[in-house]
Amino acid sequence: MSMLSVRNVNKSFGGLQATTNLSFDVQPGEIVSVIGPNGAGKTTLFNLITGVYTPDSGAIELEGSSIVGKRPNEIVDLGIARTFQNLRLFTNLSVLDNVLIPQHHKLKVPWWQAVLRTPGYRQAEAEMHERALEKLSFFGPRLMSFRLHQPVYVLSYANRRRTEMARAMATGAKMLLLDEPSAGMNPKETTEITQIIRRMRDEGGYTILLVEHKMNLVGEISDRVIVLDYGQKIAEGSYHDVVNDPKVLEAYLGKRDEGEEETA
Ligand SMILES: Nc1ncnc2c1ncn2[C@@H]1O[C@H](COP(=O)(O)OP(=O)(O)O)[C@@H](O)[C@H]1O
Ligand SMILES: [Mg+2]
Repeated sequence: MSMLSVRNVNKSFGGLQATTNLSFDVQPGEIVSVIGPNGAGKTTLFNLITGVYTPDSGAIELEGSSIVGKRPNEIVDLGIARTFQNLRLFTNLSVLDNVLIPQHHKLKVPWWQAVLRTPGYRQAEAEMHERALEKLSFFGPRLMSFRLHQPVYVLSYANRRRTEMARAMATGAKMLLLDEPSAGMNPKETTEITQIIRRMRDEGGYTILLVEHKMNLVGEISDRVIVLDYGQKIAEGSYHDVVNDPKVLEAYLGKRDEGEEETA
């Protein structure tokens, strides 16, 4: 059974058709990349899957069960967590607290145990802490030791991205949606994050759908690539096949005068 199934999904904003009849599947343990020029509908697709937007029509299923109409928090609990193109961290809180927060509502102990700080509560808290450290350690020493307790606002942009990825992993999700994980990273950091994404799958067991502009990263880790243009899927296949597809070249070349960075 597919981990994620998107079937004939449509979404428009006023007169603009942002997603048109989009269908694809992601299998358990796959790394699938979504590419396409600015405005192609990549972030909209993530917003549809994660319940930020509701499709006008079509089906979205996680392991065979519909997630259409569910709220973003419910979808996280069902197993899909994401990172954002524009980061959404609590910048005044520490690295560790940012990774602990999404786990708090999952605490399986009654509220009064938290108030009284019973052994049961302290045990649950210790496990959350353990899980946070395990996810943060995916990024090597970069977020560990003294960094754990630093407020996010002192971190480099690359470290903020890493913290957001650790937070998504710590939700307990089985599928991760990464929106431009290497944005703002230099070539060395991009190579490193490429390897980490692969380890997230190989060692962490996550299924990964990612949006990315850096083609070396996409080519390096993707089992499959989906190309969007004006909200439609124009190609799907191996990295090699899609980058040599005339439709894909045309989609990109037609827009070469546009800026690389996005604001959406
Ligand atoms: N909430 C919204 N309201 C109106 N238009 C939107 C909204 N979200 C996205 N769009 C439009 O949908 C199109 C696809 O945007 P987006 O999904 O952000 O593209 P991408 O991430 O591929 O650059 C763009 O034309 C964008 O302006
Ligand atoms: Mg986008």
